[in-house]
Amino acid sequence: MEQQKTVFITGATGGIGKATAITLAKQQYYVIIHGRNKEKTVAACEEIKSISGNENIDYITGDLLLMSDVKKVAETLINKYNRLDVLINNAGGIMDKDRKETAEGIETTMAVNLLAPFLLTNLLLDVLKKSEVGRIINVSSNSHQLNAKPYFNDIELKSNYNPLAAYGNAKLFLIWMSRYLSNELKDQGCENITVNALHPGAVATNFGVNSNLGGLLNFFGKLARPFFKTPQEGAETIIYLAVAEEVKSISGKYFENKKIKAPSEKYYSKQNEQFIWNYCKEKTDKLMKEM
Ligand SMILES: NC(=O)c1ccc[n+]([C@@H]2O[C@H](COP(=O)([O-])OP(=O)(O)OC[C@H]3O[C@@H](n4cnc5c(N)ncnc54)[C@H](OP(=O)(O)O)[C@@H]3O)[C@@H](O)[C@H]2O)c1
Repeated sequence: MEQQKTVFITGATGGIGKATAITLAKQQYYVIIHGRNKEKTVAACEEIKSISGNENIDYITGDLLLMSDVKKVAETLINKYNRLDVLINNAGGIMDKDRKETAEGIETTMAVNLLAPFLLTNLLLDVLKKSEVGRIINVSSNSHQLNAKPYFNDIELKSNYNPLAAYGNAKLFLIWMSRYLSNELKDQGCENITVNALHPGAVATNFGVNSNLGGLLNFFGKLARPFFKTPQEGAETIIYLAVAEEVKSISGKYFENKKIKAPSEKYYSKQNEQFIWNYCKEKTDKLMKEM
């Protein structure tokens, strides 16, 4: 009999993450959800159990703005399970019109949307390598195309901050990070792990609801909402990447509507991609040493 597959989904207390968890629970995956608020995460866990009829649902909590919490989340998963087939880096979002840094000194958009998936993925690589087919799925956004405006001498936008650009940049760098890691793994001869990124579509979730983006953006956000996908529809490409046979050997790609799509290459160069990889590595290595 085939062994039950384990999936870990960050930010699964609501929206696209919870919809993904419910579907994979119905498909008899062992589902570990993550949330930052314990009460909300326990409630989501119980809801997923009750809707799916699957009792193999567990949770891990942690604030992914903080790399110290990312480390604890990874350690909890390794200590308790020491196995993982699918990692879905879903937690993320857009921040407020005023720039903020975390207690560890990182711009908040970059921390949760890029550095947390980078560190969590790297800390969980060894357990993923034990899987016959390990899949890493990074939830990006077409905002990488619409809003990114990176400054390579000001990655965390100390002097050039606006929330849309910060979000677009982080999601652009997440696509580069996915592709870079995919190539690294291939170079190391690791053929059982794939890394892909995707855009879920414009989805009616809590995304941006509590962010103060400033007058006009807040207004247009509310206006467009009735035309958005449902969370279940928004989860479709993630579920496809998590389960479909035909993508089990496809890696380093960007998907939309369950199809490979070319991401925007406007700011891409090999040097820029390497620069972002080094930024993620140096930032997280330094913080890990201080822990
Ligand atoms: N909705 C869209 O139109 C859209 C479009 C493109 C991409 N995306 C991406 O899709 C992903 C899922 O978003 P969603 O639309 O489902 O939004 P959502 O309803 O706001 O869900 C986001 C999830 O991430 C969690 N999260 C946020 N910040 C966190 C932190 N610091 N630490 C731990 N968890 C944190 C949230 O936890 P709480 O419940 O505690 O807030 C929630 O579970 C995000 O990466 C988003 O950027 C969304």
